[in-house]
Amino acid sequence: MPLDRLDVKDLLKSVTKLPTLPTVAFEIIKIANDPKTAAEDLSKILIMDQSLSAKVLRMVNSSYYSVRNKISSIKQAVVILGFESVRSLGLSTAIMDKFGLEETAEGFSRKEFWKHSLGVAMTSRLIARKIRCDRDTEEFYYMAGLMHDIGKVIMDQYFPENFAQVIVRIKERGVSFLQAELEMNGITHDEIGAFLAGQWNLPENIVNAIRYHHRPLEATADQKIVYAVHFANILTKTKGMGSGGDSDITNLNEEAIQRLGINDNEVGVMVETEMDKEFEGAKEFLELLS
Ligand SMILES: [Fe+2]
Ligand SMILES: [Fe+2]
Repeated sequence: MPLDRLDVKDLLKSVTKLPTLPTVAFEIIKIANDPKTAAEDLSKILIMDQSLSAKVLRMVNSSYYSVRNKISSIKQAVVILGFESVRSLGLSTAIMDKFGLEETAEGFSRKEFWKHSLGVAMTSRLIARKIRCDRDTEEFYYMAGLMHDIGKVIMDQYFPENFAQVIVRIKERGVSFLQAELEMNGITHDEIGAFLAGQWNLPENIVNAIRYHHRPLEATADQKIVYAVHFANILTKTKGMGSGGDSDITNLNEEAIQRLGINDNEVGVMVETEMDKEFEGAKEFLELLS
C-alpha cells in the first residue's frame, strides 16, 4: 500500500522503535575525532566485542590485505594496517552485522545490497585518494559510501510490503529506484537515510553525502564527499557490483564530476584495474561475514 505523501519525520515517528546504531559503531565513529588516543581507544572498543574483533581479524588476514605474517591481535592490526583502515573495517562489520544479510522483500537481496554498498564505499575511498584527501578524510568517504543507501534497508525492514511494491514497480515499468519511490510514496531513500543518520549523530559530511547522493549539485556543504559518493554509486553500478535494487545509470551528473577535479586518466585506471581489486576484497569480506 502506498505510504501517502507523508513527511519523512512523521513516517519514521510511526515506526515504533527506530533502529539504533550498534553501540560499538557509534563508539568507533566517536573516537575518530581525537587522533592522540584514537588508536588505543579503537583497540579497546573492538576487544570488548569478541565476535566483532574475531571477524575483523579474519578480514585483516584475508588476501585483500596480503600481510606477510598472520596478525593475531587488534593492536597489531592497527600497527600494521593503520588506525584508519581498522576503524572502517570495524565499523562496516558492526553495521552489516546489525542489518543482516537475510532476505526480506522479494526481489531485493540484502547480500547484493551490501555488495553494492561496499563497492561504493571502496570506490569513494579510491576517489578520495585521487583527489589527495588525507588518510582520515579517505575513511569518511568510505563510511559515507557504505551508508549512502541505508534508507533502503530501513524501508525494507520496517515497511516491507511497501518496499516490495517499489521493487515490483522498478521491474515491471523499468523505472529507476528513485522514480518508483517518488511515484509510490513521494519520499525517497536518500531523505530517509539522511534523517536516520542525523538521528544517529553521524558526522555532518556523511549525512550530507547520504542526502545528496542523487542530486549532488544541491549540496551546499561537504560538496566533494557528496560528488565522490554520487560518482562512486554510478561507477559501481556500471561495473555490475552487487545491486542497490535497480540498474539505472542515466543520472550521472557531469558537472559534479567536473567539480570533483579528477582527470579522465585517473578515472580510467580506477575503472580498469583498481576497482576490480577492491571489489575482490569486498566479496571476500562478505564471504567472511556470512
Ligand atoms: Fe541511492
Ligand atoms: Fe546506491
